[in-house]
Amino acid sequence: MFFQNSDKKWKKVLAAPIDKQSKFLNKICKINKRDSLVLTERYFDGIDYPLMAEIFKSVKTIISRGEFDPSFRDLIYDRLLRIINIEHLYPEEYEEGNECNGDDDNVIFGENYHVYTACYDDLDLLISFINSRNDIKSVCDLGSGTGRALLYMALMMDKKLDYLGLELVDERVQFTNSVSKHFKLDHVKFQTCDFLENPEAFAGYDVYYLYDSVGTENVPRLVSHFKELIDSGSKFYLLFISGWDEIMLNSLDNLPGLKKLESHTSRKQEGRVVNFYCT
Ligand SMILES: C[S@@+](CC[C@H](N)C(=O)[O-])C[C@H]1O[C@@H](n2cnc3c(N)ncnc32)[C@H](O)[C@@H]1O
Repeated sequence: MFFQNSDKKWKKVLAAPIDKQSKFLNKICKINKRDSLVLTERYFDGIDYPLMAEIFKSVKTIISRGEFDPSFRDLIYDRLLRIINIEHLYPEEYEEGNECNGDDDNVIFGENYHVYTACYDDLDLLISFINSRNDIKSVCDLGSGTGRALLYMALMMDKKLDYLGLELVDERVQFTNSVSKHFKLDHVKFQTCDFLENPEAFAGYDVYYLYDSVGTENVPRLVSHFKELIDSGSKFYLLFISGWDEIMLNSLDNLPGLKKLESHTSRKQEGRVVNFYCT
């Protein structure tokens, strides 16, 4: 049987009216008998970055029209961004002496990576905020994990910025750099680094983005690095999605020299917030 190239097919679909786009999406995304979400794989390979942004917008519009199951959104976006087959990057346990510098407290263990990444709706809030500011040229994700936040931002932002992700776990960095290389994103870089030990690695960025990166016991250390930046006269924005406890949130809310600009309710989990600060 002859299959059209996936990008050609999507271009044709996206040029059609929205109800046709909706019909196509519902045809290639199904829930099987075991209640699993299933994508017709051949439509999700070989898509270039700019076309992907158009597909993302179409998916979002069709969901907002109530014509498509919203639970497919993360799956489609992650699949197109190539953030797939990453379970091994979130093992239950690291073997002793593994790459985490012996500092087990900073490694997040888990079965399902979605717990450890920001949700796309919250990231949309960050993107609109950054798009609305002309003074932002660079973004640093402190604890970049498997890259969902930065790869998505780089895709959906109206302007080209420099992105740096600092991450403790080297395998995650190798993975994210391989995705960045695949899409030829020379402005999106990931680096293996303990930012608590090496705060100089994140000096000079216009935006710092934080989502559940450090454990409670390390909050004072991270906040002290921000304090040093503020005291040295650095100008920056801090975009923060709150985690399981409120210690980081309270510390940022009370950090002299940091002003809260906006506060939103997170779509990830009840009780979380998405806060934007500036110096
Ligand atoms: C919850 S994930 C956030 C992922 C990503 N920022 C997002 O929004 O999807 C936090 C990440 O921070 C990393 N991390 C924790 N402490 C760190 C440190 N001191 N230096 C670098 N990365 C760290 C963890 O390994 C983990 O991958």
